Amino acid sequence: MTTLLEARHVTKLFSSGLLDRHATVALEDFSLAIDSERPSITAVVGESGSGKTTLARLLLGLVVPTRGEALYQGQDLQRMSHTVWRAFRRDVQVIF
Ligand SMILES: Nc1ncnc2c1ncn2[C@@H]1O[C@H](COP(=O)(O)OP(=O)(O)O)[C@@H](O)[C@H]1O
Ligand SMILES: [Mg+2]
Repeated sequence: MTTLLEARHVTKLFSSGLLDRHATVALEDFSLAIDSERPSITAVVGESGSGKTTLARLLLGLVVPTRGEALYQGQDLQRMSHTVWRAFRRDVQVIF
């Protein structure tokens, strides 16, 4: 399987400061892989505050994971070159 978009063991904590001991756990050890071989639709369902928007923003590269990685065609969104990042921004877009 060729992976188009992937969240690999992602944890995202939101804290209000360096010494905040009560960080919000928006995502915890979450993994999802979307195959690029055939077109598909993936729906993410959950109660309010369960992390759906954080996941979407993570897969768009707009949220930096605390642990784990978000990957596009196997490349970590936080480490890709400027050229690949530009191609990613063209290929992966939000439809409001
Ligand atoms: N930028 C942020 N700063 C602090 N906490 C946040 C931020 N974004 C989301 N959260 C918190 O992370 C959790 C998941 O939120 P969210 O991803 O918006 O869930 P959903 O979209 O499923 O309602 C919630 O507790 C929310 O308050
Ligand atoms: Mg939301």
